[in-house]
Amino acid sequence: MHGVVQGAGGVAAAAFVLPALGFALGPIFQREPFQWQIIGRPDDFSESQYVTKVLTIVDGVGEAGKSIAYVRKRNSAIDVEKHDQFNNYIALSSRCMHLGCPVRYVEAAERFICPCHGGVYNFRGEVAGGPPVRPLDRFYTYAPKEGQPGYGYVYIGPRYSVNSELQRFSPRDPAQPLDGIGQYVYPSRFDTAVRPPITNLPTPPVIPGS
Ligand code: FES
Repeated sequence: MHGVVQGAGGVAAAAFVLPALGFALGPIFQREPFQWQIIGRPDDFSESQYVTKVLTIVDGVGEAGKSIAYVRKRNSAIDVEKHDQFNNYIALSSRCMHLGCPVRYVEAAERFICPCHGGVYNFRGEVAGGPPVRPLDRFYTYAPKEGQPGYGYVYIGPRYSVNSELQRFSPRDPAQPLDGIGQYVYPSRFDTAVRPPITNLPTPPVIPGS
C-alpha cells in the first residue's frame, strides 16, 4: 500500500515537473536557425567603409528578431585570416563581446565603440581596449560567381565566433573567451556547440519580372 501511494505521488509530481522542465530546457537543444539573406549587390560595398545591414535572425517576432551587421569587402592587405568563399565580404556582428550591448561604428576613428562599459574594437573587429573577451562575432557571407545561381547578389548567412587570431569557432555567447584556458572553462551551450551547415548554399533570389 505504501509503495502504491509513493508511486502515485511520483507520477503526479512528474506530471507537473516534466512539462516545466521541458519548457525550460527546450531552448537549450534548439540550434540557432538561419537562412541565407540577400544584403545587397557587390557594388554596394567597398573595402574601406562599413555598410550597416539589418538582418532577420528569428522570423515572426518583429524587431526582437532583428540584428545588425557591419559589412564591407574583404581587403587582402589587412584581412590576413584564412580566405575562402565565405569571407569575400567581412560582416561583423554589432553585439559586444563583453555583455552584449550593441556597438556603434565610428567612421572617423575607424573603431567600434560600445557605450556600456567602454569596449573598443579596431577596424577588423579585434579588441582594442576595455573589457570584451574576444573580437566581434562574424557572419558567413557568400557571393555566387558568374554563372552560379544567385549571381549578382551578396548573401549573409549564419553567425560564428572568432578567437584573437580570427580563427572560426561555433557561435558563442558574449563573455565567453576563445583563447587560453578560458575557452575550456566556458564551453559553448549545447545549441551552439557545432558550426552551422555552411555547405547549405543560398537559393537564388526571386527577381521581380523574371
Ligand atoms: S557590454 Fe560592451 S563593454 Fe560591456
